[in-house]
Amino acid sequence: MSVMLEDLESRVESVKEEVIGWRRYLHENPELSFQEEKTSQFIYDTLKSFGGNLEITRPTPTSVVAKLKGGKPGRVLGVRADMDALPITEENSFEFKSKNDGVMHACGHDGHTAMLLGTAKLLLAMQPDIPGEVRFIFQHAEELFPGGAEEMVNAGVMEGVEQVIGIHLWSPLTVGKIGIRAGAFMAAPDTFYITVKGKGGHAAQPQETVDSIAVAAQVVTNLQHVVSRNLDPVDPAVLSVTKFVGGTTHNVIPGSVEMMGTVRSFRPELRTEVPALMERVIKGVTDAHGATYTFKYERGYRPVINDEAVTEKLRECLVEAFSESVVQELPPTMGGEDFSAYQQKAPGVFFYVGARNEEKDIVYPHHHPRFTVDETALPIGVKAFIHAVFKLNSEE
Ligand code: NI
Repeated sequence: MSVMLEDLESRVESVKEEVIGWRRYLHENPELSFQEEKTSQFIYDTLKSFGGNLEITRPTPTSVVAKLKGGKPGRVLGVRADMDALPITEENSFEFKSKNDGVMHACGHDGHTAMLLGTAKLLLAMQPDIPGEVRFIFQHAEELFPGGAEEMVNAGVMEGVEQVIGIHLWSPLTVGKIGIRAGAFMAAPDTFYITVKGKGGHAAQPQETVDSIAVAAQVVTNLQHVVSRNLDPVDPAVLSVTKFVGGTTHNVIPGSVEMMGTVRSFRPELRTEVPALMERVIKGVTDAHGATYTFKYERGYRPVINDEAVTEKLRECLVEAFSESVVQELPPTMGGEDFSAYQQKAPGVFFYVGARNEEKDIVYPHHHPRFTVDETALPIGVKAFIHAVFKLNSEE
């Protein structure tokens, strides 16, 4: 282990309060995806205030990238944090709760940004001993498709990057734990839109109509067969209809019903097979009842697939830095993440840092109006990032 890492515990301790302060500032001032003007300015200004040899750029209007060249030979590591908030009205009552009505950091991205700022500050002070280069990627718009990651990749932020890592603070995981997994980790989230078109009319004379509500209800029911009856049960997939809108009042049969939903999967072929199976059902059911339809299937982010070799290295390094009992193997989740865009350019690992604390009532799920993170998770993330830099960039 490097000499620099021996006193890392006290170094992390020295920035802990500052990291918590940044997180609270960001939490109080959330901004929606693609609108992160103040947030990205705050990141830029904070990085500038560190002085030293950070090369700071703005690859897109609301993102920030900083490069730090170490004093030793080594690889180039991308370290990513996202920064956007969600259209949710916060129901927490702490003093740094959201000041922007209807906008809330309900996924922990405030914490991700604060952790990466803390990591940059500490690494700057360790520059002569750092192997290779660290590229700090402060990404906008993770929450809204097509996502900021793809834009940043297109802007060239991954050029020369050899490996990439990212952390999500994770509310299902108890604070003090770190969750990691090689291979498929987060699903591809696709979106679909269906319109069932019937023939509207008087509710008392259904024989004169094609009842779009009754037909659409059958479509929803029959779509449940796609995953449960048509796909291999050990090849995970989810199909949920999440929006169903039609009709205006009690005595009118509406002419159409609009639906929307999500499909989650890992195996690339499923993203072709599922829409075909869905359309067979939608066509069959609407045909049977004399209705017609429109169907649109939109591919979302790619699945997050963690590179086996880099995951193994990172796991080893985290076990060394923390302990065997801290680092857990987690099952995949059906949530989506645009971190996958970086993984198209370099082998990468996305992993979770536990943020749950039952004793402090920090138990609400991501995207809940009372979501928050246990702030003692923040220095854990900083420490994990710094160990990862030394381990993954060393040419062994
Ligand atoms: Ni998130």
